[in-house]
Amino acid sequence: MASLTIRKLDEGIKTYLRLRSARNRRSVEEEVRVILGELIEGREEPLTPFAAPPAASSSTPMPQRSGALPEASVTLIIGGGIAAYKSLDLIRRLKERRIEVRCVLTKAAQQFVTPLAVSALSHERVYTDLFDPQSEFDAGHIRLARECDLIVVAPATADLMAKMANGHADDLASAILLATNRKVLLAPAMNPLMWNNAATRRNVAQLQRDGVMLIGPNSGEMAEAGEAGIGRMSEAIEIAAAAERLLRPPVPRPLAGKRVLITAGPTHEPIDPVRYIANRSSGKQGFAIAAAAQAAGAEVILVSGPVDLGDPHGVTVKHVESARQMLEQVQAVLPADIAIFAAAVADWRVANEGEQKLKKTSAGMPPLQLVENPDILATIAKLTDKRPPLVIGFAAETEHLIDNAKSKLARKGCDWIVANDVSPATGVMGGDRNTVHLISRKDGEIAVDSWPVMTKEQVAIELVAHIAKSVTDKSLEPAS
Ligand code: CTP
Repeated sequence: MASLTIRKLDEGIKTYLRLRSARNRRSVEEEVRVILGELIEGREEPLTPFAAPPAASSSTPMPQRSGALPEASVTLIIGGGIAAYKSLDLIRRLKERRIEVRCVLTKAAQQFVTPLAVSALSHERVYTDLFDPQSEFDAGHIRLARECDLIVVAPATADLMAKMANGHADDLASAILLATNRKVLLAPAMNPLMWNNAATRRNVAQLQRDGVMLIGPNSGEMAEAGEAGIGRMSEAIEIAAAAERLLRPPVPRPLAGKRVLITAGPTHEPIDPVRYIANRSSGKQGFAIAAAAQAAGAEVILVSGPVDLGDPHGVTVKHVESARQMLEQVQAVLPADIAIFAAAVADWRVANEGEQKLKKTSAGMPPLQLVENPDILATIAKLTDKRPPLVIGFAAETEHLIDNAKSKLARKGCDWIVANDVSPATGVMGGDRNTVHLISRKDGEIAVDSWPVMTKEQVAIELVAHIAKSVTDKSLEPAS
């Protein structure tokens, strides 16, 4: 079976995967698996990944994974020790964490638990024999070793660990452990004298040098009457938690503890109770930034004009209509560590807003007097007391993009400007893609960093990554 190296994927795909996985709190590898599962679920033709076993019409083929794939999978090797009974509970604990479990029983393990019990709990066929024609016709031990995200050995007996440390492969369990390229977690269980024996000490040290991970053993009473010491297998819940930590390492949250304020969308400036002045902003870019900042661990407050988008998960959204309402909400949200002004605020509003619906009269068109709206970004960037340490504006331009954006940076007093060309030909307004230039101050100079065309989600991730870097980067210069 071919393996996929995420590192070698196209940059755009990688960025997309990073966003999706961060949003769903999964590792990138898990996210790929979920995407493939969704893809397969949507297929119309039957899925036939494995050939039928030769001359085995009555035999059970290796189970096929069907439907949406679970988020993670474990091959659980149950060794032969009294602690094997705890592995039955371990199967349950792993499955309640949405971890698929395929079990392998050593010959000795079958003295303590039956394949039937294990199979009933795992809802999978149980594997016991290296030379089983049913599973070995297509190198079953190799697939058990590799078609999982983690191998857990519980109980890991002294004998199994000795075989592993010395590279033996004379039964299914040891062959899997030798053939795997996955992480391996051992839960040792043995008598304290065996655990402390010099041979076991050497084997444990060798296994640790080989990168194998251990949980336990714990200290306590042994099955043998009157014996106590280090050697008890960790509890099922401890092993399941350790497996989950390995399978789903915590997602980096570089903006944890930071409060981020974001404006998004257009504003609607009323002409009368039924009409308003608006613009073509969809709010997609601001919403994507809110989602990316939330995924990076920030507390996010999004002040949004009228948009056709659902509130991003985990984000506090304040819905407003007009520029003045937006300013009011923004001021109420302060203080914030970072403020990002992605809204396409209407520059003007109608001064003589009609209290009733304006009627057509013989006098002709009603004269609309426009007055300038408050500049929300400039107001906040120029605060002396509650100015957020990092203030970021957007510059939506249809000509002289960089020059106009540079002068906006100075005029508005913000730290960075994300400049984008919103000419109709670009399709940025209302579309899903954006080509932006990040304009900032570096060493007293104005720096322009031009990004390739990206989806608005990718722009959001990049921007949040830059923000995360600047939060720890002392070189960020305050607005002059
Ligand atoms: N902005 C704001 N309040 C306004 C107008 C703009 O907060 N009343 C913010 C926008 O959210 C954006 C930045 O200022 O971050 C620049 O907006 P843009 O529409 O590009 O520029 P304007 O200031 O409106 O200037 P112009 O229309 O002349 O380009």
